[in-house]
Amino acid sequence: MGAFRAVGTVPAPGAELTPLATVSAAHERRVLIWDLPLRVAHWGLALAVLGAYLTERIGPTAYRWHALFGYAVLVLVVFRVFWGWLGPAHARFSDFVRGPRAVLAYLRRGGPQYPGHNPAGGWMILLLLALLLAEAATGLPANDAIMNAGPLYGLVAPGASDRFTHWHALLWPALVAAVAAHIAAALLYLWPGGVDLITPLVTGFRRGVAREAAIAREHLGRALLIVVVLILLLLLMLALAPRAELVPLT
Ligand code: HEM
Ligand code: HEM
Repeated sequence: MGAFRAVGTVPAPGAELTPLATVSAAHERRVLIWDLPLRVAHWGLALAVLGAYLTERIGPTAYRWHALFGYAVLVLVVFRVFWGWLGPAHARFSDFVRGPRAVLAYLRRGGPQYPGHNPAGGWMILLLLALLLAEAATGLPANDAIMNAGPLYGLVAPGASDRFTHWHALLWPALVAAVAAHIAAALLYLWPGGVDLITPLVTGFRRGVAREAAIAREHLGRALLIVVVLILLLLLMLALAPRAELVPLT
């Protein structure tokens, strides 16, 4: 009972916590770290990337779906970039993008000393976001030389479209490698590391971090507004894009 009384109470000055109470306090405390928009964006991105890949594998007849999943990636990744400035504490770039000294110090000491993303993970996240953005953007003017072209095909010369297509294809294995390393890191933290970073990205809560690290608000209205504006901009782009006939290979 003494152990439970220590949880969430401020000890009187001079009072000492027993080791049991200290362990129990860290164990019991669930602190909200990841806001709902960040979590939805993460799992939405993972599903949309998988969808874009699978629909591409089906072939040219599934192109509409490929484009739809690609637009989802585009909206989610641009949202995530805005959320890096406008989101709650741990979503912000200023919370997890740190210089090489912090990265080295973290890697030398090891272990999770940060309630949000650690300094090494932070750079991996920037890389993932950059690759996702580049992959989705190069798809817009791409073409498959048979029957399908992205909505911005009409804006560029056919030769340029082919170069974008080339980059679209080249970026894919790079994205796969980065995602594979990312998932491997999350699994290595879990085992043998014994640190579960995955459940917090589902529930939002993390155990054993300081109460002060909790985010006060999730800013759901703000997130919804950003997403609605981004979808409207996407629809505007699709509506204004010049219609263009695909120049098939001869
Ligand atoms: C295509 C698939 C995926 C992509 C593109 C992706 C991308 C990302 C990005 C951009 C973040 C940063 C989250 C943010 O701050 O908004 C992140 C974090 C994270 N992802 Fe993924 N992810 C993918 C799949 C997965 C999978 C399958 C897992 C589970 C095994 C996973 C586990 C995590 C974890 C645990 C974090 C948080 C790391 C930390 O606590 O610092 N991801 N991911
Ligand atoms: C991040 C999201 C996306 C992913 C992961 C993705 C993935 C891929 C992959 C793996 C290919 C096959 C490349 C190859 O030939 O080896 C491909 C082809 C293609 N994608 Fe995407 N794509 C995405 C977004 C888009 C978008 C937004 C569009 C346009 C609306 C688009 C249009 C195309 C076209 C036209 C092709 C055919 C190119 C060819 O046949 O070589 N993609 N995509």
